[in-house]
Amino acid sequence: MKRLFVTGGTGFIGTRFVSLALEAGYRVRVLTRNARAAERWKHEGVSVVEGDLLTPGPWQQEAAASDEVVHLAQPLTFGARVTHQRALAYREQRLRMDSLLLDSLKPGTVKRVLYVGGTSYYGDQGSRVVTEDATPRPTGWGPYIAPAIESLPRHLERGLPLVEAYPGSVYGLGSWFVEYALVPLKAGRRLFGMKETLTLQMSPIHVDDCARALLHLLEHGEVGRRYFVVDDQPATFGDLTRVAAEALGVSYRKVLVPRWLCRLLLGPVLTDSLTSEARLSNARLHGTGFQFHYPTIREGVPALVRQWLEARGGS
Ligand SMILES: NC(=O)c1ccc[n+]([C@@H]2O[C@H](COP(=O)([O-])OP(=O)(O)OC[C@H]3O[C@@H](n4cnc5c(N)ncnc54)[C@H](OP(=O)(O)O)[C@@H]3O)[C@@H](O)[C@H]2O)c1
Repeated sequence: MKRLFVTGGTGFIGTRFVSLALEAGYRVRVLTRNARAAERWKHEGVSVVEGDLLTPGPWQQEAAASDEVVHLAQPLTFGARVTHQRALAYREQRLRMDSLLLDSLKPGTVKRVLYVGGTSYYGDQGSRVVTEDATPRPTGWGPYIAPAIESLPRHLERGLPLVEAYPGSVYGLGSWFVEYALVPLKAGRRLFGMKETLTLQMSPIHVDDCARALLHLLEHGEVGRRYFVVDDQPATFGDLTRVAAEALGVSYRKVLVPRWLCRLLLGPVLTDSLTSEARLSNARLHGTGFQFHYPTIREGVPALVRQWLEARGGS
């Protein structure tokens, strides 16, 4: 049975990923700063490793003794309003977390490391569909994750078997999309959005497919390669909310807010992320044999609406 060490296993994507890894037969160890956060897994055979990626500690030996490592942890994203100063703190923490984890791993002992980045590294790519070989133009969060991503070749050069995964805009239970779209739609409230988000295409993916794709890449991804983890088709935020409203059987009204107001409310970093166009190809992921449960938002959003209504007790 393979020993799998997971960082970020208590987070939005990580929680789903850990359940799938258990089902697939891995012996899973989850790193967390708060062992109580992982209590739900106690009876399912997950070992909880208490530790902080920002501080060296015994967790590094646990990671180094594993067959495989999946690195999903990210520093606090500060909720709604992200200023440049907060994003700079994120950048420094992310660099330190990556370095304390990856430097503790020895090539030869660890057979595979899956590093999870974010497509904001690729930034605004305009209206063309692009592959992982496109030149990154980091925007929004991108400039703040770029130094961590650009440190990865150093670890590949010393022989660490790294595979890189870049999820797009992940929606699912526990995500921004529930809070900003499903909750107000169901309550008959108006949705707020920027004019730009009605036409700019992003690359979404349902969290269940995202977690399945990460597990698939752990097993089938090629060392040294990057993979976009996104749907078959890009979509606008307006498309997502329209499909959600249809699935909920409600009509929806939107209020368009000017970009300057969005910058004031959400800060410049999130505003720039939301107004970047990224039509990303998943051909490389398909090429590994991965099959989607929800190839587009037409399948994924109604599935999320069903999951959400079920979690609320059907109402
Ligand atoms: N969500 C998205 O839409 C999206 C899109 C593209 C890429 N991504 C990437 O996917 C990854 C996972 O995202 P997510 O949204 O699932 O994350 P998340 O919900 O924000 O969870 C963050 C995780 O990081 C862990 N963590 C934070 N600081 C830590 C520290 N100092 N030491 C140890 N663990 C620490 C937390 O664990 P504890 O609190 O238990 O310690 C938690 O499990 C991230 O790299 C993110 O950039 C996410």
